Amino acid sequence: MNLYVISGVTGMTGNELVRQLVGEHRIIGFDNFFASSIDTVSDVIDNPNFTFHEFDLNDTAQMEEIKKEVLAAKDSCEKVFYINCAAVVHTEHFYYVNRTFTTNVLGMKAFLDQAIEVGAYAYINCSTSEVYSMNSWAEGGVKESDYITLANAEHSQRTSYATGKLMTEFFLRDAVNEGQIKGCSIRFANVYSKNELYPKHIIPHILISIKETGSVTLLTNSRTNRRTFLHNIDSCGAVLALMNTDEALDGSAYNVATDEEIYIIDLVKLCAKKLGITDPQIMYDGYRASDPERRVLSTEKLRTRTGWKPTISLDEGIEMCVETLRRKP
Ligand SMILES: NC(=O)c1ccc[n+]([C@@H]2O[C@H](COP(=O)([O-])OP(=O)(O)OC[C@H]3O[C@@H](n4cnc5c(N)ncnc54)[C@H](O)[C@@H]3O)[C@@H](O)[C@H]2O)c1
Repeated sequence: MNLYVISGVTGMTGNELVRQLVGEHRIIGFDNFFASSIDTVSDVIDNPNFTFHEFDLNDTAQMEEIKKEVLAAKDSCEKVFYINCAAVVHTEHFYYVNRTFTTNVLGMKAFLDQAIEVGAYAYINCSTSEVYSMNSWAEGGVKESDYITLANAEHSQRTSYATGKLMTEFFLRDAVNEGQIKGCSIRFANVYSKNELYPKHIIPHILISIKETGSVTLLTNSRTNRRTFLHNIDSCGAVLALMNTDEALDGSAYNVATDEEIYIIDLVKLCAKKLGITDPQIMYDGYRASDPERRVLSTEKLRTRTGWKPTISLDEGIEMCVETLRRKP
């Protein structure tokens, strides 16, 4: 039995990690419900292997409590893994540089320091494909080894989110290089889940709007933009695959994504079809500067090293979202 300490545990990747680990392992998780709720773990909350706290990554006293709990539990567990899922993720928020920096950079670093202090085996750092910025696609997908060209900082505060996350990759790499801990960073692209609460994320935005009004308003960027979308069962699968592959915990970064690319307009049509609506109306309003038209990552490194591959097609994933939506009052 291992011990997993998960920040942002009720978020999309965190809640699925609990579901997949709780049968055999001990989990201590916390979330401040900034962008999720306890509902996402309602099916596992009573499991004695899972302890949940409504805690904030930036609250030093609360993090001290987590540390004490880990120290008390660790001797009865084989290995301790820290997984940092907590972050200010959503576009609406990450334009606010101060709060993004506090949670995504300072919070990540303090959690890493704690992992090292308690003698954890490895630290999984959730980074982002935003680090590729405007160059987030290439023939065959952008690779971890490709050069990074950031968007113009004057165009887009979103660059601050990307550079903050990039900084966390350096903290982790440094700690691994110095032999303090094992671990890796993960560059996710567009994770979605059937439980996603955040209505400004593209998939829930489209589904809810079309279900309620038969129409949806998109940014004008969506006339040409394409994206790939990764189901949270698969984002979680990648975290598990990396944790189970010792050689992969080398301090480096891994792209985690699908290569099933879709135009946003076709995504609207797919969502409408699943909702049984034949002719959804699409309206356009607003423009986001420095928004790449495509984001396609190569996952060759992850696949070669761990054997991971995505298991849920976008068609199946949207079906799962629609089923959940149908059950909502
Ligand atoms: N969702 C995506 O498309 C995406 C893309 C790239 C990278 N990522 C990264 O992956 C990781 C996991 O994201 P996710 O997909 O599960 O997103 P998510 O927003 O569903 O989960 C993040 C969780 O962190 C919590 N949180 C935020 N601030 C906190 C704080 N101060 N203290 C405690 N909890 C806090 C939120 O309430 C939320 O439950 C994040 O680090 C994110 O930056 C996600």
